[in-house]
Amino acid sequence: MSIDLAVIGGSGLYAFDGLENPERHAVDTPFGPASGDVVTGTFRGKRLAFLARHGESHTVPPHRVNYRANLWALHELGARRVVAINAVGGIRDDMGPRTLVVPDQIIDYTHGRYTSFNDVDGAEVRHIDFSEPYTASLRAAIVAAARAEGLAVIDGGVHGVTQGPRLETRAEIARMKRDGCDLVGMTGMPEAALARELDLEFACLALVANFAAGAGDDEEISIEEIFAHLAAATANVPPILGRLLAQG
Ligand code: HPA
Repeated sequence: MSIDLAVIGGSGLYAFDGLENPERHAVDTPFGPASGDVVTGTFRGKRLAFLARHGESHTVPPHRVNYRANLWALHELGARRVVAINAVGGIRDDMGPRTLVVPDQIIDYTHGRYTSFNDVDGAEVRHIDFSEPYTASLRAAIVAAARAEGLAVIDGGVHGVTQGPRLETRAEIARMKRDGCDLVGMTGMPEAALARELDLEFACLALVANFAAGAGDDEEISIEEIFAHLAAATANVPPILGRLLAQG
């Protein structure tokens, strides 16, 4: 099957609005089940595959997502270009709620996740180059598409990835800021590294849901507020990806 673009939806994005003639695929993978069915269909005349990272009813927490199965399933269906949508907290002052960011770097703070397809006895050990964790041309295409849609988007930023599912302490965010992180999420890794192992083009469109702990004025981060901001930011995803597809 040829797929022009695969989309991994994060928190707040469980189905892809506007996907025509949807077909569901329960893909068998050597790593067990993916987070759910991959839904393929037509969007703006192109073939799109969509997978909800946390499941369609948001039942899979970040540390239990079967990242290997998800990437494998998309690859198996013919995807070669993947845009990951990630809800994040903003650390930098200019990354308040609803900001769109296309990060260019990652710092991985996760643990205990399967980080490689080669993590099985007897498999060849492969050390992928990960100096640039995202595909530059795909990043540039997302930024250009957002701007062509008249949307403000921040080009670049360091995506810190924590274990979750809890949010971070103020001290953890202060440390991440010292480390150089600009935004924080829970699902960016090992997804990006696994995509690289499969030689997929891969980039992230991060939607800021809240200021991370201690980075804004809020005493406490409200989950209701997070989801309200996410709903607003998520509405921009189909127009951006539609434009991306139209651009080729
Ligand atoms: N921290 C980590 N992940 C997140 C946050 C946060 O503050 N907001 C949305 N995803």
